[in-house]
Amino acid sequence: MPEVLVCAQGEIADGAVRIVNAGRLEIGVIRRADKYFAYRNLCPHQGGPACEGLRMPGVRSVIENGIFLGQTFDEDDMHIVCPWHGYEFHLADGSNVCDPNIKLQRFDVVQRDGAVYVVV
Ligand code: FES
Repeated sequence: MPEVLVCAQGEIADGAVRIVNAGRLEIGVIRRADKYFAYRNLCPHQGGPACEGLRMPGVRSVIENGIFLGQTFDEDDMHIVCPWHGYEFHLADGSNVCDPNIKLQRFDVVQRDGAVYVVV
């Protein structure tokens, strides 16, 4: 499978995205800590540039004994938020937060010899 050079390891800031082109494909590569995630920059809703939206933690309700105590952020579940209409996708697997059958197209990422590549 062909690989496309994305960047040197560490060149993308933690939480940031780099958009790369592979032929007709536009792919967003997002760094989270030491991992990289790559998705087609095409939202399955209406074609928006999903990878260029905010990356933010999921919001969790805090409920104890049936009583709503408030909300908190879940830093272990980062979301990609499409900038057009706000569809949210799990960074870990590209699935939509509300409907796991809706997914961003995922690509494998390889880190080798100090560089990051996306497999297309
Ligand atoms: S195009 Fe992404 S939410 Fe509508």
